[in-house]
Amino acid sequence: MPDKPRKGTPLARRLWGGRFEGGPDRQAAAYGDSLAYDRRLYREDIAGSLAHAAMLAATGIISAREGRALGRGLKAVLAELDSGAFEFQPGDEDIHTAVERRLSEVAGPDVGGKLHTGRSRNDQVALDLRLFTRAQVVALAGAVGDLREALLLQARRHATDVMPAYTHLQRAQPSTIGHHLLAYVAMLERDFGRLRDAYARADVMPLGSGAATGSSLPLDRAHVARTLGFSAISQNSLDAVSDRDYVVEVEAACALVMVHLSRLGEEWVLWSTAEFGFVELPDDYSTGSSLMPQKKNPDVAELVRGRSGRVIGDLVAMLTALKGLPLAYNKDLQEDKEGFFDAVDTTLASLRIAAAMVQRSKFRLDRMAAAGSDPAMLATEVADHLVRLGVPFRSAHEVVGQAVREAARRGATLADLGLEDWQKLEPRFDAAGLEVLDARRALASRALPGSPGPVPVRRAIARATSALRRDRGWVASHEARGHPPTPGKAV
Ligand code: ARG
Repeated sequence: MPDKPRKGTPLARRLWGGRFEGGPDRQAAAYGDSLAYDRRLYREDIAGSLAHAAMLAATGIISAREGRALGRGLKAVLAELDSGAFEFQPGDEDIHTAVERRLSEVAGPDVGGKLHTGRSRNDQVALDLRLFTRAQVVALAGAVGDLREALLLQARRHATDVMPAYTHLQRAQPSTIGHHLLAYVAMLERDFGRLRDAYARADVMPLGSGAATGSSLPLDRAHVARTLGFSAISQNSLDAVSDRDYVVEVEAACALVMVHLSRLGEEWVLWSTAEFGFVELPDDYSTGSSLMPQKKNPDVAELVRGRSGRVIGDLVAMLTALKGLPLAYNKDLQEDKEGFFDAVDTTLASLRIAAAMVQRSKFRLDRMAAAGSDPAMLATEVADHLVRLGVPFRSAHEVVGQAVREAARRGATLADLGLEDWQKLEPRFDAAGLEVLDARRALASRALPGSPGPVPVRRAIARATSALRRDRGWVASHEARGHPPTPGKAV
């Protein structure tokens, strides 16, 4: 910044300077200014201003000639910002004041001074943030779709490949890679739904709420909403300028996405260890050690896991900033942006890297199948077999438990016990009972919807594929609504 006043001297006059003798203290200004981060919203800000100016002209609040001059001026400012030629000044406390200041320089103060007619920065920033939110939600939803696709690709490839299912991180029962990956697809389908829901509530146009109580001018709020493609206008001016629920909702959706990605990351970290040896990470998604030549570290998976904490923090910070605020606008609300930007940026980047990591990982099918065929995991199958022979489940459980103990005593597995061994424990045990001790057989018997058998897994893949196609349609139709806003269309 060119202006470096000596400590304690007031800065240049600000847009609201009329009531004040000088500018604010340098330190106070630096503490309060949001330009450093909200300049990111310049396209949204100018799109909103173009729509507002067009409405002012359409309603006759300003003349058509003034409306056109504002449109030309705003587009000139946009071009400067797009090209990087825009010079920010010390008095520009946020992006809204910077754009308006420059507009008055470009179009002249008589025209530039009319832009803010019937508008406050309070409803202006609410509009900008809602425009931003809509675009980001569509981008996030698209990235959730990409990760679902990567998971489905691998699930299709490995639909019937055996791996263990765990409870308490102890081998529990045979499952399949396809089924395991579909669990993440299910989480991400819900994440998608949460983003779509959040979009609907962000898709409300707040302009016309003024600083707190609207305006005495005959603004046409529906006109602005139509220009910017909003589905509705806000219903209460006090609420409209102080509502950040949509930020919270998107941050909450992001936090949950990150928690899901963190669990995926954790599994990838575990699976890439020598102890598990289930997954071979792509070389270019791993790093080596500066000391230990043999190391191949799962950094990407670890970072996805590690960054979830930040996004959860962003959500908590926003909720905390909101909880004590009296109506309506308070400067605390300016704290909405940095955490929100961080949450969407981190989540978007994490979704994208996770999709690439999943797509490029190679499963070590031999290791997974060996672990998934551990006879100990078939204990439930034997118990179920006894149930089919009429043994009450509790007794069957007891019998198989004793068999496990007996096998362990002999240093063997359940598969090593003979028919007589079993019949000693339960006379009704028959030869067919020995055959259930087979992972593939166990999986073939998992036919209930939502379970890891080949039939339900194929069905689940087909269902998830068509759900993805439907959700892709939602993303495409909302992208087509003009995200990020294309200000050129507004006037
Ligand atoms: N930079 C401010 C924010 O982000 C814009 C609104 C300022 N409103 C005000 N009454 N000072 O919240």
